[in-house]
Amino acid sequence: MTETQKAYQELVETRRSIRKFTGQPVTRAALQRLLEAACMAPSAHNRQPWRFVVLQDHELRERLISDMSEPFRADLARDGMPEDEIERVVARGRDRMLGAAAVVLLFLTMEGMDSFADSVRQAAEHTMAVQSVALAAGQMLLAAHAEGLGACWVCSPLFTPTIVRRVLDIPASWEAQGMIVLGYPDEQGRDRGRRALHEIVLWR
Ligand SMILES: Cc1cc2nc3c(=O)[nH]c(=O)nc-3n(C[C@H](O)[C@H](O)[C@H](O)COP(=O)(O)O)c2cc1C
Repeated sequence: MTETQKAYQELVETRRSIRKFTGQPVTRAALQRLLEAACMAPSAHNRQPWRFVVLQDHELRERLISDMSEPFRADLARDGMPEDEIERVVARGRDRMLGAAAVVLLFLTMEGMDSFADSVRQAAEHTMAVQSVALAAGQMLLAAHAEGLGACWVCSPLFTPTIVRRVLDIPASWEAQGMIVLGYPDEQGRDRGRRALHEIVLWR
C-alpha cells in the first residue's frame, strides 16, 4: 500500500459520528477548509447544486432549534411516543445543536440543474442533486475528522424546510437536506459496525 492509501484508509476507518463537543471554538479558516473539501466532491454535470449556511450565531441557532422542535414534537406525539420521552428526544437534539461549535446546514438548489418536461427525468435530475449534496457532505465529514474535529450529520432540517428557510432567511430555491454539527470531540464515538461485504455485494 502507498502512503496515500494508508493515510486514506486510516482516515475513513477512524471517522465516527461525534455528537458531544468541548466548548472550544473552531476557527473560520478551519470551517473554510471543510467547505472547500466539500466543494471538491463530484457532482452531476459538475453543476455543484450544494449550498451551505454556516450557523455560528447562538441566538439564531436557539430560534431555529426551538421552531423546528414544534413539528417534531407533534410528529412524535402522533407516533404515540409518551410525553416525557418526547421531551427527552427533543432536548437531546437541542443540546447537540447548541453544544456544537458550528452548524453547517446543507441545501440543494435545482437552479443550475437541467429541467425536463417529463416527470421521470425530472425526478432523476432531482435525485442527482440530492446525491451530489450527500457526496459533498461526506467529504466534509472526512475533512472534519482530518482536522481533528468531530462531526455528525443530523437530518432534522429535511423535515422542516419551510421553517429553516424562514428562520435563516435564505433563497426560496434552497431545499434543506440536513445539517452537520461539529466541534472538538468530547466523546470517542462508538464503532457502530458495518455489514460484511458478502451481505451487501452481488458479483455478476
Ligand atoms: C443521511 C444521514 C442522516 C443522519 N441523521 C442523523 C441524525 O439525525 N441524528 C444522528 O444522531 N445521527 C445521524 N446520522 C449519523 C448516523 O447515525 C451514523 O453515520 C451511523 O450510525 C454510522 O455511525 P458512524 O458515522 O459513527 O460510522 C445520519 C447520517 C446520515 C448519512
